[in-house]
Amino acid sequence: MEKTFLMVKPDGVQRALIGDIVARFEKKGYQLIGAKLMQISKETASLHYAEHAERPFFGELVDFITSGPVFAMAWQGEGVIATARQMMGKTNPREAAPGTIRGDFGVALNKNVIHGSDSPESAEREISIFFKEEELVSYTKLL
Ligand code: CMP
Repeated sequence: MEKTFLMVKPDGVQRALIGDIVARFEKKGYQLIGAKLMQISKETASLHYAEHAERPFFGELVDFITSGPVFAMAWQGEGVIATARQMMGKTNPREAAPGTIRGDFGVALNKNVIHGSDSPESAEREISIFFKEEELVSYTKLL
């Protein structure tokens, strides 16, 4: 079954949006298979955002994502990678449609509430950065 990595960023945690964000994916029909509130290190942040290492905003990105706790999650379900990205909305919250997470909750590009994997390769890589295999559960969805 397809899996993705989602993370409520420090701004989302500070603004008490974890419950609302989790509820959206639960109500959509996706299955939460791993979650933890954690303070990530600069090393983990740099690994996670390695593809942005050459960007001018990389330092700011790492400083922000390590500035407070994040809520890291692994979700599974049919088409979860692309659908979660649709539910998150465009990267820049000012361009994200109302009804999406960033469209409803964010205004700044560098504080855009949530991160989500953009491909199966990223999902696998990002899940493995944040979770050990034994931290992910497997259970039958009854409904
Ligand atoms: P995310 O989906 O977590 O992936 C990389 C992040 O970089 C992105 O969300 C934005 O929050 C951030 N980002 C993208 N462009 C800029 C920018 N020009 N300045 C600061 N942060 C940016």
